[in-house]
Amino acid sequence: MNTPRHYLQFKDFTREQYDYLFGRVRWIKDKFKRYEPYHPLFDRTLVMIFEKASTRTRLSFEAGMQQLGGSAIYLNTRDSQLGRGEPVEDAAQVISRMSDVVMIRTFEQDIIDRFAANSRVPVINGLTNEYHPCQILADIFTFIEHRGSIQGKTVAWVGDANNMSYTWLQAAEVLDFKVRVSTPPGYGIDPARAGLAGTGHFELFADPMEACRGADLVTTDVWTSMGFEAENDARMKAFADWCVDADMMAAANSGALFMHCLPAHRGEEVTAEVIDGPQSVVWDEAENRLHVQKALMEYLMLGKVES
Ligand code: CP
Ligand code: NVA
Repeated sequence: MNTPRHYLQFKDFTREQYDYLFGRVRWIKDKFKRYEPYHPLFDRTLVMIFEKASTRTRLSFEAGMQQLGGSAIYLNTRDSQLGRGEPVEDAAQVISRMSDVVMIRTFEQDIIDRFAANSRVPVINGLTNEYHPCQILADIFTFIEHRGSIQGKTVAWVGDANNMSYTWLQAAEVLDFKVRVSTPPGYGIDPARAGLAGTGHFELFADPMEACRGADLVTTDVWTSMGFEAENDARMKAFADWCVDADMMAAANSGALFMHCLPAHRGEEVTAEVIDGPQSVVWDEAENRLHVQKALMEYLMLGKVES
């Protein structure tokens, strides 16, 4: 059995692989917009395993697989043996013998790593507590569409040290841009967790306004991620000053974009004025989940394809 190529963290791919992938995303998106059928994954099956809720991830993977000629099967913890303690290694053996690619949304990264180690087919991280690489893939493609290459640019992260922020930090290392991070006391990032080489791609700021200064992109996420609901009340208090507002956007470069992976809470991590304002590209981000994941699945299953 050949070892399949997986996508478990952003740093699983090199800059060259991302350059290739972004080119394919452009090609696949343009073709889709021209209503031209493209079915390279005819007869292939995607299995999607969800241990947490989702709107965008399920929709974009399921629609994307169908648009590429394949089909998608949805499994969740409640209705499968996964919720009744079947070992993840056993589930991986069985599921990967009946499918061609697997997408998993789960809790600890260790779960998806163990699944991948026992899978005969490519495994894609659809969000873990630690990382959300498909979202950052979409976000960076969105940045490229609006502003060109992200290399050398500055991203401001305001809010929680969560799966999104850690993935941004990994992306900055791979694609050579900077991230200015501001998190509330007690919720700071641990550079060692993301396996960051410490090559100067991120800087920490106590004041969120300072983090936004000179940024080309300001981004944030919910204060309480899935799986951390018990901390919600404490987080609402601790994060109160980490709401992205018009003043923070004014501190950023003129022409700075605003991104949020969604779902969003207006009045908590971002004001309505910002997320619904002219610098916000959140709907493009959401749509691009579809296009980037189609290119990703094509690459993981078929390797490089001529555009
Ligand atoms: N951004 C994102 O992953 O959305 P869902 O939780 O709706 O899939
Ligand atoms: N950080 C959020 C992202 C949701 C798409 C969470 O993990 O809940």
